[in-house]
Formats: sequence, C-alpha cells, structure tokens
Amino acid sequence: MTIQDVSFIASFPNVQSCPKSDLPEFAFIGRSNVGKSSLINMLTNKKSLAKVSGTPGKTQLINIFNVDHLWMLTDLPGYGYARLSKEKKQAFDKMISDYLLKRDNLLSAFILIDIRHELQKADAQFIDWLGNNHIPFAIIFTKSDKVPKTKRVQHVNAIKKQLLQTWEALPAAFVSSAETREGRDEILNYIDSCIHLKTIR
Ligand code: GTP
Ligand code: MG
Repeated sequence: MTIQDVSFIASFPNVQSCPKSDLPEFAFIGRSNVGKSSLINMLTNKKSLAKVSGTPGKTQLINIFNVDHLWMLTDLPGYGYARLSKEKKQAFDKMISDYLLKRDNLLSAFILIDIRHELQKADAQFIDWLGNNHIPFAIIFTKSDKVPKTKRVQHVNAIKKQLLQTWEALPAAFVSSAETREGRDEILNYIDSCIHLKTIR
C-alpha cells in the first residue's frame, strides 16, 4: 500500500468526543516511550506528524489522523508510565480502554512491545485485557535497530514464548524500526489486507 496524503484531524480527551467515522481505524498502543508516535511517522513518511519525545508520557490525548481518505490511524498515550501520579495513570488507562471498547470503526489495534526487553508485566496484563475483551490486535516489536540482527529472532521468540504461556495462539506479529524503516511494508500490507477483509468485530 502506498500513502499519498495524511492529515491530522485533532486531539480528543475521550472517545465520546472523537468524531464518528465510517472509515476503518487502526490504533497504536503500548507502554510509554515504546515508539508509538515514531512508528506512525515512519509509516506515514511524515517526520513530525505525531509528537515524539525521549521523555515518556509525551502523547496525552487521543490523536486521530486521516490517511488518503481511506482509513484512520490513532496515536494514543502510553500505559504503565511509573512516574505519573496515580490519578493521571488511571485517567490514561480509562481513556485508552474506553477508546478500545467503544470506538465503533476500530478495525484492529497494534500493540507495540520493545524488542530489547522481556515481556513486562504491564504488557502481559494489557494483552490479557485485549484478549478477554475480544479486541482484535497485532503485535509490533519496536526499536529493532537497538538489537544486533543476529539476535532479533531470539528476542522475538523469547517474548512470544512468554505470551504462549497464557495464550494458545498468537496474532500477527511484526518487527519494526523507526530508524531503519524495517517492517514498514509488512505493516502497511497488513493494514491493507485488514481493510479489504473487513474483519470488523
Ligand atoms: P509516549 O507518547 O510518551 O507514550 O511515547 P511513544 O511510545 O509515542 O514513543 P516516541 O515515539 O515518542 O519515542 C520515544 C523515544 O524512543 C524517542 O526518543 C524516539 O526517538 C525513540 N525511538 C522510537 N522508535 C525508535 C526506533 O525504532 N529506534 C530507535 N533507536 N529509537 C526509537
Ligand atoms: Mg507518543
């Protein structure tokens, strides 16, 4: 799939205020700092479409983008950022879970996991929550450039093995890097095939 035209619609504090749409939507979720906004910029070929920061907690609202008037893409705040106040953490969690449960045109979520580390508790809990709530999702292992090529499969398999302790089967999974652009074609093709299959929940 090629991308011609991407426009930022707006930022919204909750799912209720997001404009209704019939276009298929894809959401990028994951722990704070995992690389959600960077991946969105890489996929759309726009350097600063989504705000990126070395400091976790940069994205604080639901940011919606329109791609070629064909599909929508959502950048969400991260979960599990330890340095936020309890109230703020709960507010983010509610914003994310409400969005995932109530956004009617959501076709699939992408859960981003840092390829460098073992599966974190927050990731495992979040994946369990997605599964228990029947929210379709795929996995993206981010920051592949930070792990030597020869070790990437090993890292991915270790995380998959942890997930398979709970789940019988795993969804589609991709390896990506916002630096080298690895995974771009595969992720866009996956989005394309979801749109065509219309695997709406
Ligand atoms: P929040 O909005 O705070 O939840 O973070 P985020 O998940 O949107 O992460 P963001 O894209 O802001 O990136 C966090 C940091 O990781 C930034 O310093 C990025 O430059 C860096 N980063 C993101 N993706 C990659 C990647 O693929 N490779 C490398 N080397 N660095 C990356
Ligand atoms: Mg972000």
